[in-house]
Amino acid sequence: MSPIKQTILVTGGCGYIGSHTVLRLLESGYKVIVVDNLSNSSFEALRRVHELYTRVAPKDESPASLTTEQLIPFYQVDVLDRSSLIKVFASHPEISAVIHFAGRKAVGESSHIPLDYYNVNISGTVNLLQVMDEFHVRKIVFSSSATVYGDPPVIPIPETSPIVASMSPYGRTKVFLEHIIKDLCTASVVKHQRYVKECEAANKSVEHNYEWSAMLLRYFNPAGAHPSGIMGEDPQGIPNNLMPFLAQVAVGNLEKLSVFGDDYPTRDGTCIRDYLHVLDLAQGHVAALAKMDTNHTAGLFGCKAYNLGTGTGCTVLDMVRAFNRAVGRELPYVITGRRAGDVPNLTADPSLANKELEWKAEKSLDEMCTDLWRWQRTHPNGYSPAQNQ
Ligand code: WQD
Repeated sequence: MSPIKQTILVTGGCGYIGSHTVLRLLESGYKVIVVDNLSNSSFEALRRVHELYTRVAPKDESPASLTTEQLIPFYQVDVLDRSSLIKVFASHPEISAVIHFAGRKAVGESSHIPLDYYNVNISGTVNLLQVMDEFHVRKIVFSSSATVYGDPPVIPIPETSPIVASMSPYGRTKVFLEHIIKDLCTASVVKHQRYVKECEAANKSVEHNYEWSAMLLRYFNPAGAHPSGIMGEDPQGIPNNLMPFLAQVAVGNLEKLSVFGDDYPTRDGTCIRDYLHVLDLAQGHVAALAKMDTNHTAGLFGCKAYNLGTGTGCTVLDMVRAFNRAVGRELPYVITGRRAGDVPNLTADPSLANKELEWKAEKSLDEMCTDLWRWQRTHPNGYSPAQNQ
């Protein structure tokens, strides 16, 4: 008999990182429930997850005979909508942990509509945490970002580098949320101790554990797509990020790349980032969940931050060259001025995640580019069916 599978609720599970993580979770033997408001994502991503999982699922599971929603229960719910979230948790008492991706993520846009960012990212997360607490689900893996480091004093960046609240409103939401989650974990220890004492005084058995566990995963720059070519990033409108922008140039939807500044103190003057394959990032979430379980078995709770990156920095021009190799031709670019808020170098020191999560980014830059190109050339319009080949 197969062991009972743990059920993970994934918010934002239809998005780019979310959908790849849902697939890795299924492949790793978890059951998954998805909550997503579809504001910047598509249910089609879950259909693709279903299709890909069908190819590798154990024989006794036969997911091909299920609908996507039977395999992955899906709720089109906004994390701000408390009563709907309550209904999801009430319908699924089997949920043991949450991976929380849902939120707004465009750095530039966040400066124009900061209240939307604070509302969705902060109020939405607080809402989710409160509902989780009510339902005694106190394990969370949270999508943080390398942006919390601001302009770090030391490269590669260790987790002990100060986190600063001086970048975009988007970046600040990640910093504040890390503090909020840390505070919750700290307070929960005291709450649990008090509860245990009350139980002892009343000669009652201890039924709950009020202690929280949280993994704050600081993502560097995710890139690439599923190697099958049927799942990838589907940004709405003109992409803000380098790799999806380059992919749109390659497919002919955009004319040329603007390289934002070549006067940084780096080897070729363009900014250095640590790009990691989205499937490696997805695996980082599975590793974080497993680590929370091991910690629980050892009676360890609390909050821990991990860098998810490769430890290797690439300049913008390195990335252009790598993507040119994948596409087989030279893509046009121009050097323009710096983009506000960019810092010269964000390269991870991933040694803590390597050691404690037993996780390491395995895929190369060329795999990231080849996989991205396979997805983009067959899906020039992402998941929207119009004009795709
Ligand atoms: C990478 C490099 C740009 C576009 C942001 C967020 C981070 C995470 C990922 C989450 C920079 C340069 C870019 C272009 C360019 N967010 N560039 N021309 O800014 O490192 O990180 O996205 O969802 O939290 O901060 O990523 O891909 O935008 O930029 O020259 O058209 O490419 O200046 O040096 P960034 P990016």
